[in-house]
Amino acid sequence: MTLPPGLRKLVLTLHVTSSVGWIGSVAAFLVLAVAGLTSQDAQTVRAAYLAMEMVTGFVIVPLCLASLASGLVQSLGTRWGLFRHYWVVAKLLLTVVATVVLVLQIGVIRYLGASAGERALASADLRELRMSMVLHAGGGLVVLLLTTVLSVYKPQGMTGYGQRRQRELRGVPAP
Ligand code: HEM
Repeated sequence: MTLPPGLRKLVLTLHVTSSVGWIGSVAAFLVLAVAGLTSQDAQTVRAAYLAMEMVTGFVIVPLCLASLASGLVQSLGTRWGLFRHYWVVAKLLLTVVATVVLVLQIGVIRYLGASAGERALASADLRELRMSMVLHAGGGLVVLLLTTVLSVYKPQGMTGYGQRRQRELRGVPAP
C-alpha cells in the first residue's frame, strides 16, 4: 500500500514531531534525574521526582508510541518498506529497544514519585534507583540521537528481501 502524497506528508509531520519531541522530553527528564540525584535542597529533590513521573506519563510515553506507530505507517506506506533497507530495520530495532526499556522503567519512576511525595528523600535514600534513572535517560538519549542520524543520512544498503522486491518491481528475473 502506498500513501497518497498529502497523507504521506501529514504522517511524516506527525512522525518527525513526535520522534524529535520524544528526544527533547528525554533530555528534560535527564536534567530532572540529575537534579533529583545531586541537589541538596529537599524541595528540589521532591519536585524533580514528581515532575519526572508526570513528564513520563503525559509526554514521554505518548510521544514514544506516536513515533513508533507513525514510523511503522511511514515505512509500510512508502517505497522504504519495513524490512528492505538496513537503516529502517536498525531504526525499528533501536526504537523497539528504547520503548521496552521505557515501559520496564515506568514502575520505578512511579515508585520514586510516590516516595518523594510522601517524605523528604535524604541523599542516600533509594540511591541506586535514582542513579539508574540518570543512566537510563542518558543511554536512551544516545540511542534516540543515533536513530535521528540514521533517519537523516539514510545510509545505503538493502537487505536480501529488499533486493528481491526491487528486482520484482523492475521485472528483472532473479539470478
Ligand atoms: C526515535 C525514533 C525515531 C526518530 C528520532 C525518527 C526520526 C525521523 C526523522 C527526523 C525523519 C525524517 C527524515 C527525512 O525526511 O529526511 C524520519 C523519517 C522516517 N522514519 Fe523515522 N524516526 C524514528 C523512528 C522510526 C521507526 C520506528 C520507523 C520504522 C519502523 C521509522 C521509519 C521512518 C521512515 C520510513 C522515514 C522516511 C519517511 C519518508 O521519507 O517518507 N522511524 N524519521
